[in-house]
Amino acid sequence: MKIKTDRLVLLPLTTEYLLEAHEFLGDLENTRSTKYFPTDSIEETREFLARCEAEWQKNLPTYHEFAVILDTSLVGKVSLYLSEDRSTGNIGWIFNKRFWGRGYAQEAASAVRDFAFGVLGINKLVARCDYRNTSSITLVKKLGMKFEFEGVRKNRSCPDEIPEYNFGMENPKST
Ligand SMILES: CC(C)(COP(=O)(O)OP(=O)(O)OC[C@H]1O[C@@H](n2cnc3c(N)ncnc32)[C@H](O)[C@@H]1OP(=O)(O)O)[C@@H](O)C(=O)NCCC(=O)NCCS
Repeated sequence: MKIKTDRLVLLPLTTEYLLEAHEFLGDLENTRSTKYFPTDSIEETREFLARCEAEWQKNLPTYHEFAVILDTSLVGKVSLYLSEDRSTGNIGWIFNKRFWGRGYAQEAASAVRDFAFGVLGINKLVARCDYRNTSSITLVKKLGMKFEFEGVRKNRSCPDEIPEYNFGMENPKST
């Protein structure tokens, strides 16, 4: 699996990227608005990457965690988690803060959206954001998703229940 964009290459996220991935997956500022990060230790990051790697080995992965590579550096990850019937994909992202503000997340997430609709043929793409996460909400909209409803969530770094904004878009080929 390899997806090329103008500036980036997307590859399976594996343990090969442990040190670079831990730099942002284990960093609070980088993951404050995420549900499942930061990791508590490099060992936990390694276990996460090992699970991603194993999933990529399956004939029909239920999720895809992409490493986003610029030249030879890991700049972030984009994830796509499928529903049980494989009709809906939940897209998410975490980019190393050293690489924010250059359009890399938009470029990589657009490629994963196109993979989800064009290659996997899912019917619907969704995204869920912490209501305060303006950079993610902006990105979701740039991808073409629309606000659908408000729910609640807890982020790993804080026990408080907070509003979650849910976005979605249908596969343009099936509408
Ligand atoms: C959400 C996140 C990926 C967004 O990163 P980002 O770099 O701001 O997103 P984009 O790739 O869309 O880049 C947009 C910025 O790049 C700028 N940019 C520069 N060159 C660009 C180009 N060639 N193309 C597009 N945008 C470009 C834009 O002007 C914009 O700048 P601005 O933020 O000052 O307005 C990042 O903030 C992040 O990793 N956050 C932490 C993890 C997180 O919260 N994940 C969500 C969990 S639900």
